[in-house]
Amino acid sequence: MPLVTTKEMFRKAYEGGYAVGAFNVDDIDIMQGVLAGAARTNSPVIIAVSEGALKFIHPAYIREAAKAAAEENDIPIALHLDHGKNPEICRACVDNGFTSVMIDASSLDLAGNIAVTKEVVDYAHPRGVVVESELGAIAGIEDDLVVEDKYGHFTHPDDVVEFVTRTGIDSLAIAIGTAHGAYKFKPGQKPQLRFDILEEVQQKLPGFPLVLHGASSVPQDRLEIFNRYGGQLPEAIGIPEAMLSQAAKMAVCKINVGSDIRICYFGAIRKAMAENPGKFDGRTFLGPARDAVADMVADRIANVFGSAGKA
Ligand code: 13P
Repeated sequence: MPLVTTKEMFRKAYEGGYAVGAFNVDDIDIMQGVLAGAARTNSPVIIAVSEGALKFIHPAYIREAAKAAAEENDIPIALHLDHGKNPEICRACVDNGFTSVMIDASSLDLAGNIAVTKEVVDYAHPRGVVVESELGAIAGIEDDLVVEDKYGHFTHPDDVVEFVTRTGIDSLAIAIGTAHGAYKFKPGQKPQLRFDILEEVQQKLPGFPLVLHGASSVPQDRLEIFNRYGGQLPEAIGIPEAMLSQAAKMAVCKINVGSDIRICYFGAIRKAMAENPGKFDGRTFLGPARDAVADMVADRIANVFGSAGKA
């Protein structure tokens, strides 16, 4: 089937109480691993490409590889721009065959965020492409946070209706305590998310799909392999899987995973290189790495997000 938007995926996910994984791909190998995991579990899937990855792989290669994947696999596949920083990059992706774009103008004030997001929606919608935008700050743990009220830097539920109505977006990324990268919490800190904010947002926007960024769970077995073979991510700590499952049962319809992919992929490469010192055929190293990505993606889908069998 051709590439699809996330519209129908999210409608079914909302009704079914599960979430669709958006997996960050940095090269075509990783993309193949992600798709193998999704196909194995018969799940819809979102291929997420950041601006950096877009430049690294080249837009035409991503587009053609994703199209080929969609033809080969009988599952719904969306091609999504992750964290587009300005309308220009979003427009370029709309013109380049992406079926979904994210505009991230969350560093602007509410009025500025609305104006920039609406500009992207006005371009994308007539061309059949859906738009995600972000409200609130999805911080890193080291960011200095100025807490003004009980919502702090998180998504303020009072803003969401105005934001969604005035922009016309299709999904909303919310900040409830997740963070990008392998360190979501400080060592010793108890992982917690603001489910109270998620609930308030959900009540204000009934039926509207929400998105969770920074949602890698940093599985300990994968981290152990990565570190054992020379990687250095001591005490990396992710979002507990039970919390991701809880969010997926609520209004969260898309869960973003990037760091877990990298830990799996490069952990497997490190291991294969250490175990095969005399080999110099890339397939010796990249094959197991691709398989490790597929296994991890299949595990997220089947055991955490709940989208297995929903293709
Ligand atoms: P992680 O770093 O938790 O994988 O988050 C990825 C992400 O949200 C990309 O937008």
